[in-house]
Amino acid sequence: MSDSFSFDTLAVRAGIERSQFGEHAEPIYLTSSFVFENSAQAAARFAGTDRGPVYSRFSNPTVQMFCDRLAALEGAPACLATASGMSAIMATLMSLTRAGDHVLSSTGVFGATMQLFNMFGRYGVETSYVPLTDPDAWRRAMRPNTRMLYLESPSNPLTEVGDIRALAKIASDAGAVLVVDNCFCSPALQRPFDLGAHVVVHSATKYIDGQGRVLGGAVLGSEQYVRELLLPVLRTAGPSLSPFNAWVLLKGLETLSLRMERQSANALEVARWLEAHPRVARVHYPGLASHSQHALAMSQQKTGGAIVSFDVKGDDAASLRARAWATIDQCKMLSITGNLGDTKTTITHPASTTHGRLTPEARLAAGVGEGLIRVAVGVESPADICADLARGLEA
Ligand SMILES: Cc1ncc(COP(=O)(O)O)c(C=O)c1O
Repeated sequence: MSDSFSFDTLAVRAGIERSQFGEHAEPIYLTSSFVFENSAQAAARFAGTDRGPVYSRFSNPTVQMFCDRLAALEGAPACLATASGMSAIMATLMSLTRAGDHVLSSTGVFGATMQLFNMFGRYGVETSYVPLTDPDAWRRAMRPNTRMLYLESPSNPLTEVGDIRALAKIASDAGAVLVVDNCFCSPALQRPFDLGAHVVVHSATKYIDGQGRVLGGAVLGSEQYVRELLLPVLRTAGPSLSPFNAWVLLKGLETLSLRMERQSANALEVARWLEAHPRVARVHYPGLASHSQHALAMSQQKTGGAIVSFDVKGDDAASLRARAWATIDQCKMLSITGNLGDTKTTITHPASTTHGRLTPEARLAAGVGEGLIRVAVGVESPADICADLARGLEA
């Protein structure tokens, strides 16, 4: 579809490839391989001179429809899908780095992402960490062998915001690549390519699905990057998105902007209520004027997003953890679960769950304290969400 269509139109119509039956909803091609008319066609498909499907590890029409729609929404030339967000990040690392290269990452990234970077140390790819919010620190930390810069904005779970334009320039000046994990905003709220990013990764498990059903991921970038560097990794290593999951995600994209708009509005209401609560020490939400990068966030994102984190009050690590756990455990409606991006509001204690496998020092550097609670606000009434949180805070 033409780029001149608006986001909302592309979200429901981009990427559709109808079969000879003229079905209206996108079909699920649940098949591992595709049949060729003859050996010559098989050879041409394997060689890539005939672009028809071959084998669902690397080519499937339902998965392709998902990739084409997401690329249209992100404003990206090309996209490939993966089985999960983590396999998207792994494939990005494998496609961009080799032994001897250096990766510069924000300290404020998802716990498993940091562990993956550290694992790549075994293969000779070293990662060092810098604060997301200090572009000068990124510039100073660049090395002659820095190949990739990596950030989430807003970050999980503190909702810190990185200056994507400034960091893209630092990467470009050094001939490196800026990779942005756009999971918290999704393209409905933020399009990193418009701000200069070179590669975007997604955990489609989160807002793109939006209803907590399937795992999925995606990597987006230039035609050349995707064809020459990323596709060989994914085709060979095989962390493929299943056609069924791709279909669920395609359907998720259709309602993405509606959900993000409503969930962001609800999150702002919850954040304002938390900010006024006497038992809350600090609220982290980019849509609040009190957020230290509020102006930057509003220049990059349409709204503050749907994740609100907050610190409860307490004297030491033990009392902070006890207060945070008690607040969470009193909730009767909010779901105590590690996932986020669902229409149902979820609540998590990052220090003992999503970031629990990090060393205490790494957790401290990421700002993930024992009193921190992350709420991924859904579509329920904000008054009901606040009432559920009040029960715990006031217990
Ligand atoms: C910001 C971010 N990136 C990546 C991931 C990993 O995604 P997945 O669970 O789909 O592998 C997560 C998971 O919570 C996340 O929050």
